[in-house]
Amino acid sequence: PETGSLSIIVLGASGDLAKKKTFPALFNLYRQGFLPPDEVHIFGYARSKISDDDLRNRIRGYLVNDTSPLEDVSKFLQLIKYVSGSYDAAEGFQLLDKEIEKHEISKSSREGSSRRLFYLALPPSVYPSVCRMIRKYCMNKSDLGGWTRIVVEKPFGKDLDSAEQLSSQIGELFDEPQIYRIDHYLGKELVQNLLVLRFANRFFLPLWNRDNIDNVQIVFREDFGTEGRGGYFDEYGIIRDIIQNHLLQVLCLVAMEKPVSLKPEHIRDEKVKVLQSVLPIKDEEVVLGQYEGYRNDPTVPDHSNTPTFATVILRIHNERWEGVPFILKAGKALNSRKAEIRVQFKDVPGDIFKCQKQGRNEFVIRLQPSEAMYMKLTVKQPGLEMSTVQSELDLSYRQRYQGVTIPEAYERLILDTIRGDQQHFVRRDELKAAWEIFTPLLHRIDNGEMKPIPYQTGSRGPAEADELSAKAGFYKKPKKLYRNSGLS
Ligand code: BG6
Repeated sequence: PETGSLSIIVLGASGDLAKKKTFPALFNLYRQGFLPPDEVHIFGYARSKISDDDLRNRIRGYLVNDTSPLEDVSKFLQLIKYVSGSYDAAEGFQLLDKEIEKHEISKSSREGSSRRLFYLALPPSVYPSVCRMIRKYCMNKSDLGGWTRIVVEKPFGKDLDSAEQLSSQIGELFDEPQIYRIDHYLGKELVQNLLVLRFANRFFLPLWNRDNIDNVQIVFREDFGTEGRGGYFDEYGIIRDIIQNHLLQVLCLVAMEKPVSLKPEHIRDEKVKVLQSVLPIKDEEVVLGQYEGYRNDPTVPDHSNTPTFATVILRIHNERWEGVPFILKAGKALNSRKAEIRVQFKDVPGDIFKCQKQGRNEFVIRLQPSEAMYMKLTVKQPGLEMSTVQSELDLSYRQRYQGVTIPEAYERLILDTIRGDQQHFVRRDELKAAWEIFTPLLHRIDNGEMKPIPYQTGSRGPAEADELSAKAGFYKKPKKLYRNSGLS
C-alpha cells in the first residue's frame, strides 16, 4: 500500500451529505485503522466563516453512537481542519492548497507523497467551477509524487444533454481515472455479492437466462416521503433519484455477461454493454405515482407533476434476456422500507404435483434492511400426506454471520477511492448509456405528457403498478398462501 501524506478534503463540509455520510464514513475508516493519523489529514471546506471547532462540533453529533467511544471521536475530530472560501474564487483554494502543503511537508520526512482526495459534497451546479479551481490551485505536488482524485455524486445532470455537458466540463480538467462517480448502491454488501453469486456458483450459471427466468423485479421502497428535501426532489423525481442510477446499476450486475476478469475496466465494459442493449421504454410499460400530500410541502409547487413512485419495465435485447421483463419499481411514502431483487423462474413444465399455485421458484436478494438471500422452492409438506408446500433455503446474514459488522456503503467506497479502485464507480460511458435509456421518458414527464397517479401515503403505491407487474408475468402469491412461510 501507498504511504506518505494523504489529505482528504471534504468540500461542502457543513452540508447534509458531508455530515450524515462522508464524515461518519471517514470516522469508521479511521477507527478501523485505515486512516493512520501520522499520514492523514482531513480538511473541511465551505463558504461559511466558522472555526475548526465550530465544524467539529457540528459533526460530532453524527459520530457519537453506542459503539464509538468518545475518546475516539475526539481524536478523529482533531484531524479535521476547516478552511473557508467560495467555490469559484482563487483565494479560498490558494489558502486550501497552502494548508494542505503545510501538512504534506511536515509529514514528508517519511516516503514523500502528496495524495489528495477531493470529496465534492456539493450541488452539481458548482462542480465545474470547483473542479477548475482544484485543477488550477490544488493539484498534488508532483515533486512529492502521489495523486489527485475527485469524488462526485449524483445528480449528474438531468438528462442526456446536461449530463454530457457536465461530463465534458469535468473531463477537460481531469482524466477518467481521477474521477470517482459515486453510486452508493454499489457499496452495499449484497450488491457487491452479485458478481460472486452469479459467477462463482454452478447453481446459477446454467439457469441465469431467458430459458429459465420468467422475470426479474428490482424494488426500492421507502416508508417516508421527501421530508425536507422537497425542493431538490421536485426538480428530479423518483426516476432520476433512484431508478436511473441505483436500480439500473443493480440491473447491470444482475444481467451482465461474465467479465474477462475482475479488473474494473473489464467489469465496467460489461455493464455498458447491458445498458446499450436496453430497448426504448414503452409508455404502456410505465406507471407513475405521486403520494397524496406531497404537494403540501412548501418547497413543492402546487401543481407539481413530479413522480414519487414509478414502475418501469426494461427489456434487454440480447441472446440471454430477450423476452424477460426487468421490472424496476421505486417509491417514497409507501408501506415499508425495503430494497430487493426478485428473480422469478418459469413454471415447471409437465408439473405432476399440481403445485404451481403455491408459487414459483424464486431467488430473492434483500439488500436492506436485514441483508438476506433466500430461494423459494417447493418441498413435501412434512407428514404422512403427500402434499407440497413452498419453503426456503435461507441465508439471513444476521443469523449466519453473527457478530460480523457489515460496512456502510460510503465507508467501503471511500476506501476504494483512496486505494484507487474504480470497480464500484460509474464510468463516463456508463453514465451516458444510463441517461440514454431514461431521457425520452423523463422529457415526456417534464412536459406533462405523462401524469402520476395519486396514491395514499403508507400504501403499496398505485394499484395500476401491481397490474402492470402482473401483466409482465410477476407472480404474487395470494395472501392466504403465505401461512406456512417464514419469509414473504
Ligand atoms: C439517495 C436518494 O440517493 O438514496 C434518496 O437521493 C434516498 O432519496 C436514498 O432516500 C436511499 O438510500 P438508502 O441507502 O437508504 O437506500
